[in-house]
Amino acid sequence: MEVVILPGEERIAAVGADIIAQHVAAKPASVLGLATGSSPLRVYGELGRRVASGELTLSGCSAFLLDEYLGLQDDHREAYRRVIEREFVERVDIDSTRVHGPDGAAADVVAACAGYEEQMCAAGGVDVQLLGIGGNGHIAFNEPGASLAGRTQARMLTEQTRRDNARFFGDDIDAVPRHCLTQGIGTIREARHLVLIAWGSAKAQAVQQLVEGPVSALWPATALQLHPHVTVLLDDAAASRLELREHYLASAEHRLAGQWY
Ligand code: GLP
Repeated sequence: MEVVILPGEERIAAVGADIIAQHVAAKPASVLGLATGSSPLRVYGELGRRVASGELTLSGCSAFLLDEYLGLQDDHREAYRRVIEREFVERVDIDSTRVHGPDGAAADVVAACAGYEEQMCAAGGVDVQLLGIGGNGHIAFNEPGASLAGRTQARMLTEQTRRDNARFFGDDIDAVPRHCLTQGIGTIREARHLVLIAWGSAKAQAVQQLVEGPVSALWPATALQLHPHVTVLLDDAAASRLELREHYLASAEHRLAGQWY
């Protein structure tokens, strides 16, 4: 795991965008893995800026979302498909028909999940996957107790995640769906490069577990320790509980000067 501690969100966004840009430079038809939540938003903003200035094109790329709420109308503002359209697709030059997400309105949820896995496989798998992390250590919507080898499936959200996400639903926890579709941790671990972004002290404990804790279903993100290529971009607050913080700071310095993959 490459742990990179950066001075604030702006630098995280720039480095996150650099990583995506390097993948796209090496492979213009890169398959991007997109995350929702607030953590990656500034990366999307920075990618949009680079596309607008002509520095970058994502026109050859396709993309897959990590997860989706179950039970929201297709056009609900907080349906993840809509969030990604607003925050990412509309800012860059990717073809929106090549941006896919789990179908939260499917009549047959099991078939929809299996079909989504097949679609990702047919696209050649995800080259670079952006990730956030929940305060309880969830990734995508794999809550504590989730299989560390699971595939895309319907899951129930924990009370904590619904409380955390209520801010997107007018602070009304009852408006937050109870169920979701999510790529499993086994699915996520097949992406070739994982880039996890976390900032703020509310993530410090989850980050400490992610990087230094024992691999455990209680902290699903810890399964990423078993992935060969993970980059973790943190601000000081999110990194504040890391025991080896000084070591990560020192070793990230030379990486910042060079290539990311
Ligand atoms: C949601 C998403 C996750 C995201 C997490 C953290 O539950 N399903 O993919 O990583 O929230 O969100 P935030 O980045 O807003 O803290």
